[in-house]
Amino acid sequence: MKNLLIVANWKSNIAKLEAKKWLESFSMNEFPENLEIIVLPPFTLLDIISGYIRVNDLNIKLGSQDVSPFDKGAYTGEVNAQQIKEFADYVLIGHSERRTNFSESDKIINQKIEESIKIGLKPIVCISNLDQVRSLNTNEIVIAYEPLEAIGTGYPENPDSVSAFVAQIKQIKNTKIIYGGSVSADNIINYISLPEIDGVLVGGASLDSSSFVSLVKNVV
Ligand code: PGA
Repeated sequence: MKNLLIVANWKSNIAKLEAKKWLESFSMNEFPENLEIIVLPPFTLLDIISGYIRVNDLNIKLGSQDVSPFDKGAYTGEVNAQQIKEFADYVLIGHSERRTNFSESDKIINQKIEESIKIGLKPIVCISNLDQVRSLNTNEIVIAYEPLEAIGTGYPENPDSVSAFVAQIKQIKNTKIIYGGSVSADNIINYISLPEIDGVLVGGASLDSSSFVSLVKNVV
């Protein structure tokens, strides 16, 4: 059985009490060893969730949804890779919502990747077209392929099209590739059964712990 990354992107949702309830209910379940379940909460919850995972010995990894493109210093409002590494192993970089709403350029995204790798954080880099793939300076990343029209719409990309697009990505970058965009309990199997796909990035369906549990259970 291949190893799969199942990544829960909470975006700008969920506060402390809800997170605690999510974890309590999620941790009542056991999942196979070949699944690496990664939760990406808002920065404010990284500390408390990493503590909860440690105390309860849960098989969940943590990541942040973003990182500063700079090292520590006079960058008001930014959270740097070193600060994130205290709590997390992964970092999501270049989500289309950041590229669009916060004008993140390919240059900034490469800086963020560089800062993360330097500190030992593993970058999961979102792309939606091949130019974005070509602009990446390194192979030491996981690529999350997220077609724009599939994000948050309930209309996931056709698995055959995902397969064809991933083949094109592989010609440019030899990295692990996961799929994101309206992944749900009902359709996850269509993506993880593609031999070239190493997991999924889940937004909306990860917010409620029981729907996320159903989604993960449908992997096996
Ligand atoms: P969605 O979000 O699952 O709600 O489509 C995915 C993402 O934006 O990472």
